[in-house]
Amino acid sequence: MTKIKPQRDVNGAGKKQPAVQGIAEQLGLKPGQSIELLKALHILTRDGKMNQDSRRKLKQVYHLYQFIEPLLAELSQNEHTVSLADHGAGKSYLGFILYDLFFKQLGRGRIYGIETRAPLVEASQQLAAHLGFERMAFLNMSVADSTHADAMPERFDIVTALHACDTATDDAIAFGLEKKARAMVLVPCCQAEVAACLRQSKALQLSRTPLAELWRHPIHTREIGSQITNVLRCLYLESQGYQVTVTELVGWEHSMKNELILARYTGQKKRSAAERLQQLLAEFGLDASLQHRYPLLAAADAKQA
Ligand SMILES: C[S@@+](CC[C@H](N)C(=O)[O-])C[C@H]1O[C@@H](n2cnc3c(N)ncnc32)[C@H](O)[C@@H]1O
Repeated sequence: MTKIKPQRDVNGAGKKQPAVQGIAEQLGLKPGQSIELLKALHILTRDGKMNQDSRRKLKQVYHLYQFIEPLLAELSQNEHTVSLADHGAGKSYLGFILYDLFFKQLGRGRIYGIETRAPLVEASQQLAAHLGFERMAFLNMSVADSTHADAMPERFDIVTALHACDTATDDAIAFGLEKKARAMVLVPCCQAEVAACLRQSKALQLSRTPLAELWRHPIHTREIGSQITNVLRCLYLESQGYQVTVTELVGWEHSMKNELILARYTGQKKRSAAERLQQLLAEFGLDASLQHRYPLLAAADAKQA
């Protein structure tokens, strides 16, 4: 990637040019949205146009912003320096737009993007420097490694994971629990781990229970694997003191991966959720292979024994 020279205040510190304002209105952008950023993210072409795909992408990120902005507003009260970790950041569309629309105005708070693909991390670092988005950091590491990385703070307020591949969402949940996150916003991606376990014990389960018909055909194995995974994730979060809402991420109509899991920390650990989780693992023959995903349940059991 070509090096971009650092440049601050691309929009002129709120003194918007009439032409820029006109483009923003025409394109349905949010007030204060940096045109320069949208061009750098290739959401806008160099001459300020937006194609169908980019329009959809922006609509998706704005839709997600509606859920995250109130959390940021609440958690940054009383001069608190709000921190957000975005896992499986990719090109960091979400992080950049959150910074542009919220963190920039706030004047405090920090976003960390975690991503395993080095070129994407380098590109995001360069873009943040170019735009003067000083309170953004990008780490080239896995979600799991970031949990204990020295470069990461001990606490985070918000954890996001938008289509973080496969088990990266589980790692993001483990990260959020370790960092005592006040809120988690998760849009899971395809998930293969549970489907693989179901596939392995299919013959045994078919002889044991008619429920195994739900995953006899390969396409059903994949679908129910995904479904069970998200149900287990919700129960785990509830068992650890989070109130969970599951909804649809509108704007992702074209995608099967449009489930949005919103978790808010209340401190009310639901024992019934822990029990249900264990029962489901047993029912689906997953207890041996999946217990490692829920270490805090085992810790709670050991405490009670
Ligand atoms: C489908 S992309 C989504 C990117 C971005 N969140 C978005 O919605 O535009 C998933 C990203 O997660 C990254 N990823 C996958 N597994 C990861 C892991 N274990 N740790 C960190 N990043 C991971 C991939 O390299 C990829 O860039």
